[in-house]
Amino acid sequence: MTALLELERVEARYGAARILNGVDLAIAPGERVALLGRNGVGKTTVVNTLLATAVKCGGEIRVRGERIDRLAGHTAATLGIAVVPQGRKILPNLSIQENLKLAAALRRKGPWTLDAVYGLFPILRERRHTPGTALSGGQQQMLAIGRALMLNPELLILDEPSEGLAPVIVDELGVILRDLAATGVAILLIEQHLRLVRDIAERYAVLSKGAVSAAGRMAEVDQEQLQSSIMH
Ligand SMILES: Nc1ncnc2c1ncn2[C@@H]1O[C@H](COP(=O)(O)OP(=O)(O)OP(=O)(O)O)[C@@H](O)[C@H]1O
Ligand SMILES: [Mg+2]
Repeated sequence: MTALLELERVEARYGAARILNGVDLAIAPGERVALLGRNGVGKTTVVNTLLATAVKCGGEIRVRGERIDRLAGHTAATLGIAVVPQGRKILPNLSIQENLKLAAALRRKGPWTLDAVYGLFPILRERRHTPGTALSGGQQQMLAIGRALMLNPELLILDEPSEGLAPVIVDELGVILRDLAATGVAILLIEQHLRLVRDIAERYAVLSKGAVSAAGRMAEVDQEQLQSSIMH
């Protein structure tokens, strides 16, 4: 089957600083993959390379078999890839509703409308006219997820969604992500929180020294072995 997203020997840098040295990663339609690795190893850079905010200096990126690495900017969204960025990136001067409508021009056809997002997260409907930044961390994460869903993606990339959230909220996030996965959307989950990863991902890849150093099926890996491979 053709991969939905495929990175092959991807190299990337910021200025002169080389961060990725040949990353291989493939995600099939509907698949749930975790990208792991210690702080600062380059996980977000993988996303930035896809979104062309880091400079790709080698390798190929393909979506449904077609190379996208030579196309400009917002292409990922129009090709069905939506990102929930690290730190949520809620626009402070916009209301919740305005944040949700932000990417309206890039939306694909699909089940996710404003009403559907409010159905998933009723608190966002209740507070739709308040500034996004007036929300709690967990609610901001819902907003960031809702904003990504508004694009009707085939692949949802979440960059450390549990960061800064209380454990009980992380559990709620796990339920939401499992429900979303059941709708058939593929998920690339970048996380340090291994319990959330276990709940969601079928496969994992560990990033180390600019490349994928270990990969496999979640069901077949020992938790401690995985934790230690992340630290090296
Ligand atoms: N815009 C940038 N300009 C220059 N260097 C950067 C930039 N963004 C990140 N870096 C550097 O690139 C390296 C990889 O950063 P990146 O954010 O991809 O790591 P990460 O694995 O996502 O880390 P974390 O787990 O802390 O989110 C780090 O050394 C970081 O300091
Ligand atoms: Mg990061």
